[in-house]
Amino acid sequence: MSGELDALDQVLSRYGRSPHALVQILREVQLQTGWLPRAQLGAIARELKLPLAHVEGVVGFYRFFHARPVGRYRVLFSDNITDRMLGSEALMADLCARLGVAPGQVSADGGVSVDRTSCTGLCDQGPALLVNHQHVITRLDAPRVAQMAELIRAETPVPAWPQPWFAVDDNIRRADVLLGMALPPGAAIAVGLARGAQAQLDEMKRSNLRGRGGAGFATGLKWEMCRDAPGESRVVVCNADEGEPGTFKDRVLLTRHADEVFEGMTVAAFAIGAAHWPVQGLVYLRGEYSYLLEPLQAVLRRRREQHLLGAAIQGRAGFDFDIAIHVGAGAYVCGEESALIESLEGKRGTPRIRPPFPVERGYLDQPTTVNNVETYCAAAQIAVHGGAWWAGIGTRKSTGTKIHSVSGDCERPGIYEYPFGTRIGRILEDCGAHDTQAVQVGGPSGVCLSAFEFGRRIAFEDVPTAGAFMVFDRTRDMFEVARNFAHFFAHESCGFCTPCRVGTELVVRRMDKLASASAGGRGSAHDIQVLFELDRLMHATTHCGLGASACNPLRDTIAKFRPAYERHLRSLHFEPGFDLDAELSIARHMTGRDDPGAHLEKR
Ligand SMILES: Cc1cc2nc3c(=O)[nH]c(=O)nc-3n(C[C@H](O)[C@H](O)[C@H](O)COP(=O)(O)O)c2cc1C
Ligand code: SF4
Repeated sequence: MSGELDALDQVLSRYGRSPHALVQILREVQLQTGWLPRAQLGAIARELKLPLAHVEGVVGFYRFFHARPVGRYRVLFSDNITDRMLGSEALMADLCARLGVAPGQVSADGGVSVDRTSCTGLCDQGPALLVNHQHVITRLDAPRVAQMAELIRAETPVPAWPQPWFAVDDNIRRADVLLGMALPPGAAIAVGLARGAQAQLDEMKRSNLRGRGGAGFATGLKWEMCRDAPGESRVVVCNADEGEPGTFKDRVLLTRHADEVFEGMTVAAFAIGAAHWPVQGLVYLRGEYSYLLEPLQAVLRRRREQHLLGAAIQGRAGFDFDIAIHVGAGAYVCGEESALIESLEGKRGTPRIRPPFPVERGYLDQPTTVNNVETYCAAAQIAVHGGAWWAGIGTRKSTGTKIHSVSGDCERPGIYEYPFGTRIGRILEDCGAHDTQAVQVGGPSGVCLSAFEFGRRIAFEDVPTAGAFMVFDRTRDMFEVARNFAHFFAHESCGFCTPCRVGTELVVRRMDKLASASAGGRGSAHDIQVLFELDRLMHATTHCGLGASACNPLRDTIAKFRPAYERHLRSLHFEPGFDLDAELSIARHMTGRDDPGAHLEKR
């Protein structure tokens, strides 16, 4: 017990007993203890001078925190549709059978639990899983699962499992200016310093770079608004939460181009912070990528030694900027910038009411610029090569290149970088897709395109994207694709606002009701009408982008792949949402009858 207290004390001391570090403290404590007993939460609450209810509320928000024992081996299968297409469900059933545990449960001896989790960002090398929230295993197959069951039964520590299982490939298939041109560390900062802060900002505006996280807001303008906001200090945040299913390009940028990411953040700190040094830098790294934490910390250490971070960067007196990494704990909504800031502050990741926007009042009420990983990479290249150079690539409204995470039914899944304006069909040809029925661009909250639309182009003015490119051939049931996405949104809704909390669940129930129709179930055209109505309602009334876009895949697939839904209809009119015959089973049991006469007539 005193050892446990010492360990807790060390973690608390490392974070200066700051309540804003609560999420990080909980993560590190749980790494040591496996789960978070109430007594421990009480000790943390006392030390951080927070109400216990607050600490428990934070633990309850994040899926990777556990207030109950979860087993020494906690196995989480990635549950994106692409993992399922590669057989993840059968593999999980096999593992559960071998270990004698049901999905979502802890084994009787308390040793192991097996469950699903949202996309782990390894769709180019799935099926994938996470063990103990730290170790990723890629390219699962039946022999791996069989051996894994043996290793778990023998209580072999995870780091001693076969090393090839943990290999994560970058799979860069097409490189352009971001993936193909590594910058020498410090090059962009040097050019920026020589140019001056205002000129650097002007260069960003000239480039017309738009954010790569999805919304496409002009980066130069965002930096300028942050610079001009009232207040003494500034914060630069890198959004590396990458939770959109099917998106994994930031994983590769952080693996291969971490220097450019940190360099871009430093250029931002210089441009927005000239009158406000020191500037604070924060990277929000998704919990699923925590295996990248140590390599990224090593890059940060080296950059400090190279005087590219810390006090007086590259000798410029007063230009003080450093970067800390905050690791998330399994909540997709934390990718939304205001939820991300709440999480950085050690709270539940509930999106804030806006205005004020983060550029005015962000992290700890300081003006904060939040940008995507790829946006910072682009900013570093723009600092070196100039805004006009960047603006000369792509289209007038969508300048530069875009990196795509390609997965699904194609011969060469991986990372592809193209100038904006590239045809969808071109990407399909390059990745070796055949007989393609549909492409989901930008993940579940993006757009689903049918074969008639493969001539359209990737651009903010045509098909915008945050980076996912999931390919579905003609063997796939687009209804099942949409149903997987519906489950994802219901699972990830933070529950703050009723239209999203209830709406996503109602969508799932309708989709499940339709799905059961193929087994003689209860779908009707009325159910499809209800889905349309839910879409309208949620789009208009939810608090953040998650709820607003949760029905996008339904709307697209109903409009473009209607037969996939009609296959699930039993009636053109109305079918009740419950199975009356099944509901009568208790009455049958009580009367001791189960003969055909005790059942409702089957149509
Ligand atoms: C539910 C939700 C999830 C999001 N997830 C991410 C994410 O994982 N990464 C990201 O960069 N932006 C994400 N965004 C967009 C951010 O809110 C924000 O617009 C972005 O980080 C700004 O960076 P940019 O201007 O460089 O695009 C998400 C938005 C919503 C509504
Ligand atoms: S829309 Fe959904 S995710 Fe967003 S705040 Fe409301 S409940 Fe939370």
